[in-house]
Amino acid sequence: MLHDLPKPFFVLAPMDDVTDTVFRQIVASTAAPDLFFTEFANVDGLQSPGRTRLMKKMKHAETDQPLVAHIWGRNPENFYKTAQQVVSGELGNFVGIDLNMGCPVKNVVGHGVCSALIKDRPLAHDIIQATQDGAGARMPVSVKTRLGFGEVDLTWHEFLLSHNLDMLTIHGRTRAQMSKVPANWDTIGEIRKLRDKLAPQTLIVGNGDVMDRAQGVELATQHGLDGIMIGRGIFQDPFAFARDSDQSGQSIWETYSRQQRIALFHRHVSLFKATWQEGERPIHTLNKFCKIYINGFDGAKELREELMASTSIAETLGMLDDLLKSEMQIN
Ligand SMILES: Cc1cc2nc3c(=O)[nH]c(=O)nc-3n(C[C@H](O)[C@H](O)[C@H](O)COP(=O)(O)O)c2cc1C
Repeated sequence: MLHDLPKPFFVLAPMDDVTDTVFRQIVASTAAPDLFFTEFANVDGLQSPGRTRLMKKMKHAETDQPLVAHIWGRNPENFYKTAQQVVSGELGNFVGIDLNMGCPVKNVVGHGVCSALIKDRPLAHDIIQATQDGAGARMPVSVKTRLGFGEVDLTWHEFLLSHNLDMLTIHGRTRAQMSKVPANWDTIGEIRKLRDKLAPQTLIVGNGDVMDRAQGVELATQHGLDGIMIGRGIFQDPFAFARDSDQSGQSIWETYSRQQRIALFHRHVSLFKATWQEGERPIHTLNKFCKIYINGFDGAKELREELMASTSIAETLGMLDDLLKSEMQIN
């Protein structure tokens, strides 16, 4: 399926506590990418009695598709079982399995997983092998990683490319760089050249600081990449994946009125209420979305402060209803 995507194809980056099914459905309705990733789900948790609590990470709907199950963990046996369950449909409807080998967060790295696997190749090998065995060639297996741990380390990408992966996503920074320096696209281009030599079948996706489709197309062309992944760009523009801007060069989002922005937040909060049971995702989760939508018009800051002071979803929805009613009276 991944090989059938257009070139370059666009992917919404996995962002924990952000790209849940609700936000993915909103992005699917504004300007959809070609591929979605779930938030990262821990396989050791999924294969434990704690599975129910983690299933919110795997939750999806009909519109946030095609969707890749993005997983992490430590025990290869649990990767094997999870891959089998993804393929069988037990965990939902997915088109691929992606292994997180890039998360830089201290307590994750402290457990020797995610970006720490860059330094533990035997375990990285066992995890990829176990996942591929569990998937049994019935589903693509891919990896999302960084340029290296302490410094750029192309031996890591050579190692990954020797594993017959279907796709390799490179975030153009090392673990040590976290997100503090600009992404290094030239090195992503070097890795693409390695791919040409070592594993022509592996799709290469570049990631880091891309704000919209136009910039992504430019970078993909410049570095010969198959796909582009956008993360934080979606915070600035919910239409980041849109094919065209209007004749004046404005993005669709720039043309959105205050009323349209409030209406989009209303849609997000309504879907959030319909999707998550009480407490499954706390109300403060909505604050980051409030900042995305309630932005770019006079009085946005004050309005955000009011909305973010709300203590219940019902109250937030009531406020948004009132705002929309008064907007309609004005217009
Ligand atoms: C809030 C947040 C959560 C993230 N969670 C994940 C994650 O669960 N798995 C992952 O591989 N990357 C995660 N990332 C990294 C992004 O997927 C992406 O690689 C990074 O933000 C760089 O891309 P960007 O500059 O387009 O945002 C996260 C990033 C942010 C900002």
